[in-house]
Amino acid sequence: MVQDINDNRVSNKSGNRPFEDVLKARMSRRSVLVKGAALSATGFLAGIAADKLFSKPAEAASSFDTAVSRSMQTTLVARANGELVGFNPVTLADAAASDAKTPLISPDYEYQVLIPWGTPLVPGTREWDGDPNNRPTSGEQKNMVGAGHDGMWLFPINDSNDNGVLCINHEFAANEAVYGLDRAAELAADITSITAEEVLRSQYAHGVACVEIKKVGTKWEVVTGSGKNRRITPDTPVEFSGPVAGSEYITNPAGNAPRGTVNNCGNGWTPWGTYLTCEENFNGYFGATGAWTPTEAQDRYGFSAGGFGYGWHVQQERFDLSNPNYANEGNRFGWMVEIDPMNPSKPPVKRTAMGRFKHESGNVVVGSGNRIVVYMGDDERFDYLYKWVSNGSWRDMLRRGISPLDKGVLFVAQFSENGRGAWLPIEWESSGQLRKRFKNQAEVLVNTRIAADILGATPMDRPEWITNVGTDVYCVMTNNSRRTEAFGPNPLAPNPDGHIVKLKTTRNHTGRQFTWEVALISEDTHGTESSIASPDAIYADPEGRLFIGTDGGQKDGLQDQLLVADPTQLDANGRIATLKRLFVGVEGDEITGWATTPDYRTGFTNMQHPGDGDPSRTNFPAATDGVTIPRDCTIVITKKDGGVVGS
Ligand code: FEO
Ligand code: CA
Ligand code: CA
Ligand code: CA
Repeated sequence: MVQDINDNRVSNKSGNRPFEDVLKARMSRRSVLVKGAALSATGFLAGIAADKLFSKPAEAASSFDTAVSRSMQTTLVARANGELVGFNPVTLADAAASDAKTPLISPDYEYQVLIPWGTPLVPGTREWDGDPNNRPTSGEQKNMVGAGHDGMWLFPINDSNDNGVLCINHEFAANEAVYGLDRAAELAADITSITAEEVLRSQYAHGVACVEIKKVGTKWEVVTGSGKNRRITPDTPVEFSGPVAGSEYITNPAGNAPRGTVNNCGNGWTPWGTYLTCEENFNGYFGATGAWTPTEAQDRYGFSAGGFGYGWHVQQERFDLSNPNYANEGNRFGWMVEIDPMNPSKPPVKRTAMGRFKHESGNVVVGSGNRIVVYMGDDERFDYLYKWVSNGSWRDMLRRGISPLDKGVLFVAQFSENGRGAWLPIEWESSGQLRKRFKNQAEVLVNTRIAADILGATPMDRPEWITNVGTDVYCVMTNNSRRTEAFGPNPLAPNPDGHIVKLKTTRNHTGRQFTWEVALISEDTHGTESSIASPDAIYADPEGRLFIGTDGGQKDGLQDQLLVADPTQLDANGRIATLKRLFVGVEGDEITGWATTPDYRTGFTNMQHPGDGDPSRTNFPAATDGVTIPRDCTIVITKKDGGVVGS
């Protein structure tokens, strides 16, 4: 629901459209070009093996190679049988028979609930079970799993399939969930009544959790009291790195040290074993207690006097846009943040070279020359797709003590109508246009959206998660009901149900040219067993299956869901032909986030904001009683026959 508030406005007023394409824009919404759909099996698999070896620390790479090649053999057998995605799905009939108060899973699979909101991470902290009369205090919440479970990744300990540190984003905690429906209604009527304790309760339910989990028998559980357990909140001290670090743009007259990360949505992970968390709708946590007129940049980033109704600005000066002592606090958010899952004493680092926008997804790929490529989206109507390319081989850079996320080039995508496109470098030094507008690269990066407007980036239909199968990069456009004109990679106007665009960049992800095609249009699936709307999360496993989570209400009597597709099985238009429904959530929730064990036989996804905090809609994960507060939670998914998840 917070996302809906965010969607009420359009902050990109650049009217961008590549000139060449204005001349050519004639295509109908159904005549999208299909390019490069055919890939030989060998090329396809080789590409995956090269690209996906990045989820473990460098020292562990060899055993990870073995694990992948073992599962690749499984793939070859499965493919021979034409069964990359062979499970029996949850059907529309199953969904129609459900009261949507508890989830549904494929009959070939089973699930377990893990780390619901309120799970203690520190000994001595109670477990909050959803009791509406005994909600966590701020002091308790600080030591508990937060709310708004979203992007995540599992970092195995000693290569184990049964033990690791799960880093998980707590994107947001709606007032309805944190304070209850009655108090949330009072705050909506008068936000100035919010107390300092209430603000802290909200803040500590946000951020990131790193949680050691292990499998005991057949069940996963939290290692309570593990030295690796950690909560990172909007209050945690953070560091800045890259061109913006130490600059005037993130310095406040108040001299306050930088703290916190917020609205952590999509994510990524690096070959050197770190977690990337994406700061998305950070603007919504700011508001104004007094007179305030937004600057052009504040307007482009969607700051408003009321924010999203959290009221943090009422109690904490740094979130008050009208307080000149904290004039640059807003510039401290909207970054990619790197976290070391195994070292809780290391502060999160904001990697400013990767730009400031409403970050969603950090799909890390090792490209040519072992350079790090990170595909990223800016989730706002009519905002852009970006990629980062490190200057050198990631191993060499780390050896020299340089982060591959600090030195490199940020690019933004400019699509042409003809199935081609260009990655435009966002570089002050090489761009006369940017030099004319900005003083230096730090100013460019703080204002990445404006720089991309100037360069002529292509406005997209809300870029969410991105993943890759070899050199095929799948970019999810969740929806855009405000689009009035179809254009190239955004072929529907309006586009209420979203689509997926596939890109292929030259030079093994690192080049400046790409080709594109539309890989899926949600609307085409409606009324079929593949029914999907508003795709959001996407993850490709090393065997090439696509796992797709949805956010935003489904058609055909479904709740939000997790589907699995084989992207090589295409229809006559070259689009993904079949989506199989692995899991269906409950009323009001969103299915997001994906992680797996190294053997791919345990998968993790999240149910976010089940019932939107309303116990009359669902009480999950508690039994249905009409009273217990529904809680965000992780769903552990295994195949009954012990097979690879998604097979
Ligand atoms: Fe937090 Fe763009 O989804
Ligand atoms: Ca969400
Ligand atoms: Ca999302
Ligand atoms: Ca979303």
